[in-house]
Amino acid sequence: MSIWNDLARHQRATETRHMQDLFDEAGRAQVFSVQAGEMHLDYSKTNIDAEGRALLVQLAENAGLAEKRAAMFGGAKINETEGRAVLHIAQRAGEDAVIDVDGEDVMPELRAVRMRAYAFAEDVRAGRYPGQGGAITDVVNIGIGGSDLGPAMATLALAPYHDGPRLHYVSNVDGAHIADTLKGLNPETTLVIVASKTFTTIETMTNARTARDWMASKVTDPGAQFVAVSTALDKTAEFGIAPERVFGFADWVGGRYSVWGPIGLGIMIAVGAAGFDAFLAGGRAMDTHFQNAPLAENMPVLLALVGIWHNQLCGHATRAVLPYDQRLARLPAYLQQLEMESNGKRVDMEGRDLARQSGPIVWGEPGTNGQHAFYQLIHQGTRIVPCEFLLAAKGHEPELAHQHRLLAANCLAQSEALLRGRSFEQARAIMAEKGLTGSDLDRQARHRVFPGNRPSTTLIYPQLTPFVLGQIIALYEHRVFVEGVILGLNSFDQWGVELGKELATAIGPLLEGADASAKDPSTQALVAFVRAHQ
Ligand code: F6P
Repeated sequence: MSIWNDLARHQRATETRHMQDLFDEAGRAQVFSVQAGEMHLDYSKTNIDAEGRALLVQLAENAGLAEKRAAMFGGAKINETEGRAVLHIAQRAGEDAVIDVDGEDVMPELRAVRMRAYAFAEDVRAGRYPGQGGAITDVVNIGIGGSDLGPAMATLALAPYHDGPRLHYVSNVDGAHIADTLKGLNPETTLVIVASKTFTTIETMTNARTARDWMASKVTDPGAQFVAVSTALDKTAEFGIAPERVFGFADWVGGRYSVWGPIGLGIMIAVGAAGFDAFLAGGRAMDTHFQNAPLAENMPVLLALVGIWHNQLCGHATRAVLPYDQRLARLPAYLQQLEMESNGKRVDMEGRDLARQSGPIVWGEPGTNGQHAFYQLIHQGTRIVPCEFLLAAKGHEPELAHQHRLLAANCLAQSEALLRGRSFEQARAIMAEKGLTGSDLDRQARHRVFPGNRPSTTLIYPQLTPFVLGQIIALYEHRVFVEGVILGLNSFDQWGVELGKELATAIGPLLEGADASAKDPSTQALVAFVRAHQ
């Protein structure tokens, strides 16, 4: 407890200073940056100083981070509310790794399924697994949450490496999503992946049945053009998918951590087994760094500590993820699930009220688009939004290198503007030069003041390759883990999604005319509106 008090005291004692003054100390940019392989995280544009960092590292040590990290990597059942191990890291572990769960090495089975998935993906890519009308041209992945966001995000991120059939992702139970996706596709050359850890998720199962009906309208054996990825092999069989086209995984892989295994089948089909292997190698490199680097030089740990500083200590409720990388357009949505489903909890491991705020609200959009939308608030609004910039030094379009330089310049300019701001005197001088005088000059100048002193981090890497994408995703996974350990909560369950699911099941019949009088008056009125207009 006293370490939190020490940190709170330090935060209060330093909150009014200008971060820019911290750069008077020579070498701050280097001292407050961390490397993992070729990735570089700069957190010098924050108000964290040497004392603050030492206290934060102490906080992580006091929380038992090293032991808890070892417990996770060792296969202990750290997801206590579900009685499960947490072993997404097994999905990308090295060839000779041995990981025991309940006394049994889980790696041989995991590798065997991966090899089967690779072989299937390569068959589809090469046209050796055709549809009724010839080689597969389009693959539709039906899944939601972790069975959608990871593969959809990664498929877009790896577009320059995409040389397999076209990939489409359908998640929403809104019929518009599947209708718009299937429109224009040929059922005879389309493959459908039904991706669902539980194989019970209503959105996914409803869309899967819709897709099967669509396929059956043209294809004699529609089941042959369906594959399943799931932990529930009994349910995939019930749906009618032959076992050789089912790729299983264990319940110790959380949905939002599952992109590394068969849930990534769409990525495997898009970029091939070699590309997927490189993605896994990137994740593994970050795992090795996370396990071995001292806490004060450990990228996921430092990213987590910066997050704890901004959210739990400074009280900034949100953080913006701002990839200056159009192909990471789905990263904010992916991180919303990863971070908010993991650390959006109100009780600790013992079931006691959390002593402080849970994880932050995560949001964002790619730059430069956001600059022309919500950056106004980030620069001049009354709330402070810590920003997390991501940037590749190099793009994939050599002929458009000038555009990439423009992109990079914008990214660097934003973090500089957030740091420096523009003072009233500077704004006044600009307006005076334009000819303004007297009270008009002061009034107009005030609108053009940027307070600055606003924190940001920049994650910079050479190029968005499959390997680097793996590093980035594993970095964020471990960051979530570290924040969860420090907050003392279970990052691996998601009970908060249950109530809405239950109530939706009960409301369904009301929309078809059943008695709604047991509902609250607001819900009754809304039900009545839908009934009247459907
Ligand atoms: O409702 C939340 C959730 O359980 C997520 O945790 C999960 O990623 C998603 O639904 C999809 O679940 P499934 O893969 O079992 O269909």
